[in-house]
Amino acid sequence: MRDHDRTALILGIESSCDETAAAVVRAGSEALSNVVASQMSLHANYGGVVPELASREHLRNVVPVVREAMAQAAVSFDDLAAIAVTEGPGLAGALLVGITYAKALAFGLGKPLIGVNHLEGHIHAVLMEARQRSEAPMELPLLALVVSGGHTHLYLAQQSEQGAWSYRNVGRTVDDAAGEAYDKVAKLLGLGYPGGPWIDALARRGNPRAVAFNFAQIKPRPHREGISMPDLMPNKKAPLSADGPSFDFSFSGIKTAVLRYVETHDMRQCVEARRKAIAAMGDAKPDIEAVAALCDAQTLDLIASFQYAVVGNLLRQTFAAAESFGANGIVISGGVAANSELRRRFQAEADRRGLPIAFPSLALSTDNAAMIAAAAWPKFLAEDFAPESLAATPQLRLGQS
Ligand code: KG4
Ligand code: ZN
Repeated sequence: MRDHDRTALILGIESSCDETAAAVVRAGSEALSNVVASQMSLHANYGGVVPELASREHLRNVVPVVREAMAQAAVSFDDLAAIAVTEGPGLAGALLVGITYAKALAFGLGKPLIGVNHLEGHIHAVLMEARQRSEAPMELPLLALVVSGGHTHLYLAQQSEQGAWSYRNVGRTVDDAAGEAYDKVAKLLGLGYPGGPWIDALARRGNPRAVAFNFAQIKPRPHREGISMPDLMPNKKAPLSADGPSFDFSFSGIKTAVLRYVETHDMRQCVEARRKAIAAMGDAKPDIEAVAALCDAQTLDLIASFQYAVVGNLLRQTFAAAESFGANGIVISGGVAANSELRRRFQAEADRRGLPIAFPSLALSTDNAAMIAAAAWPKFLAEDFAPESLAATPQLRLGQS
């Protein structure tokens, strides 16, 4: 490593979904700034991210957000060693804004451009923070669970021959992402968007054992061509692919089960009343006490049971995969990693097994650009720079499956 490389600054830019973000990170481990402009309130009115609106907002925000990140870090463009940008996965138009701006900036400054996979960013955010806390570095191979509104993936991170990181996708959702299930269930219960934080807060007030959601009852789907999934429960029953078992997830069944529960228990009127009351609270983020007051015990029990089942399923698959691949540690990332029950139960299980586990801070568990700059660091050292033809890749995958 060249001496100046140890202190090199990378500007990261992220615009894959509904957050325009920029950050300056030193040597992949110290965030000098981390600015995020969220479009959450804009999309809240629609109950989900509207791609056209997202692109327009990114276009409006990208310049001021980068300026703010540079100002907060108190550095100039000349001080940067490279520009890193999310190349995918994400919304095509949204990605395009960040990539086009990053390219123009890199070209104008004569600095290298580094393309980063958003999912790799989520994984590196956690490792960056663990390093900052001066924890002993977790040794590869690591098992990473990326769990957000768009993804529920298990990756095995290994050291490649060149010393860089390589990834293998050893599990993924066959339908909805876990965060998507949270958002859809929150919506069908008349709660606000995004639904995860509301369900997290309300679940504490209900009985998680009130309603038994059984993942084993979810109808299995074909995993890959020629391979059928006998069961979505973990470990021994996981389907074998050429490189070993894969640990898949399915979350659309539980969403349907919640819907059926609402219908068969005559909860519709209650849901509508809550939806109207929350809408009447206006744009301001409603207070949890006020929202909880709109939920009867049956609703709170349903919410608690839903979360208990989802977290349990994530936990079983993750630890079964870690055991199966001999992982030395577990890294959890993505928006759902903010979930309090998930953190508590994963930590307890890891402690029981004596396995190191790391979660992102609440600030870094949602989309941000510090994670993009951190993930770019090993690529910077390896001079793995993006070609001028770098394009938005909405379906970009991480590693081989
Ligand atoms: O990673 P993220 O910010 O965006 C992407 O999807 O890439 O994740 C957002 C997702 C949403 O589905 C949101 O409902 C969920 O993360 N989420 C949570 C919590 N906070 C955010 N889900 C459960 N519990 C939470 N506390
Ligand atoms: Zn994300």
